[in-house]
Amino acid sequence: MKNETPVLQDLHGRHHGYLRISLIERCNLRCSYCMPEEGVPLSPKSHLMTNEEIYQIAKTFVKHGVTKIRLTGGEPLVRKDIPVILEKLATLPVELSITSNAVIIDKFIDVLKVNGVNKINISLDSLDRGKFKHITRRDQFDIVYKNMLLLVEEGFKVKVNVVLMKGFNENEIIDFINLTKELPVVIRFIEFMPFDGNKWDMGKMVSYAEVMTYVNATFSEESIQRLQDAPNDTSKNYKISGYKGSFAVISSVTNPFCDSCNRLRLTANGQLKNCLFSSSESDILTTLRSGKPIEPVIQKAVQAKFKVRGGMDTLEKLQEPKLHSNNRSMITIGG
Ligand code: GTP
Ligand code: 5AD
Ligand code: SF4
Repeated sequence: MKNETPVLQDLHGRHHGYLRISLIERCNLRCSYCMPEEGVPLSPKSHLMTNEEIYQIAKTFVKHGVTKIRLTGGEPLVRKDIPVILEKLATLPVELSITSNAVIIDKFIDVLKVNGVNKINISLDSLDRGKFKHITRRDQFDIVYKNMLLLVEEGFKVKVNVVLMKGFNENEIIDFINLTKELPVVIRFIEFMPFDGNKWDMGKMVSYAEVMTYVNATFSEESIQRLQDAPNDTSKNYKISGYKGSFAVISSVTNPFCDSCNRLRLTANGQLKNCLFSSSESDILTTLRSGKPIEPVIQKAVQAKFKVRGGMDTLEKLQEPKLHSNNRSMITIGG
């Protein structure tokens, strides 16, 4: 019998309208929470999606109801044909956005604007040059900070991702929030998550509750506003009254938001991941190259999606190294 379920709907009633496409496995930083120090094995070039393949796959997803595409990496702007990719994807009826480490984003202001990208998420884990260098293993704090200001000045809506780590940058939570007094950005504190090779342990993570303890100890109860979260948001959003920007917490570990998950991920080598934490992948690229339709592969992958965190539905399971070592390193998933 023909399967009548919509291609992008899973067995838990979730429609997947948001596709995250990783364009490249390489990055110009070396963040320790994202990749092992020794690097990761890279796919041979012939195994990576070409810009035309990216476009064809994205078009199929859009046909079935994807309305938002986010480009990720590694660092997506390191890919040489990024202007062509943006140009092609801009012809689709989607909200196009990008997550970047902002090291070279100043060279792409025009190409981003021309192709309708107006929301940009950047990573910045410390406001201290030395700590930034320590965590990214590269001395690029000044340019990233300058580029964050440039993006705001150029009118982009900017979210700043801050992965919090115990004893490293948790003492900067309030400094980051103070930045939002004059700067209209969203600072998003992210609970450190386990991926292959990132030496995760629960003790290194700063939780949503801990972030709020710092906030409550610093700002008055009346000044802390809980904002309405957008549908399918990963973050719990707050604002200090009168500040131009806002802040949020992404609590994948202590408060997963999988109930409203609408995300699918396509890796640079053309594998579909139905969850950030999934250990299995579906080979879209080989199917496309063989001339067969990719819809059945997409549908099967979507229907195999677990309800919560790729099956790691408890904190105990999340702490089981065996369960997440089958997953990739974050650098090749793209967040
Ligand atoms: P918006 O599209 O602006 O909502 O951004 P986003 O949160 O989807 O994307 P971004 O690339 O900025 O990711 C920020 C953090 O959220 C990263 O640490 C991601 O790993 C995490 N994140 C993004 N999507 C998911 C998801 O589907 N599940 C989980 N658990 N975390 C996610
Ligand atoms: N835990 C949480 N967030 C992570 N990111 C990368 N690795 C991790 C991790 N282990 C975030 C980065 C980047 C986003 C795409 O993913 O902050 O901004
Ligand atoms: Fe979606 Fe998986 Fe993230 Fe949960 S952990 S929100 S199911 S991608």
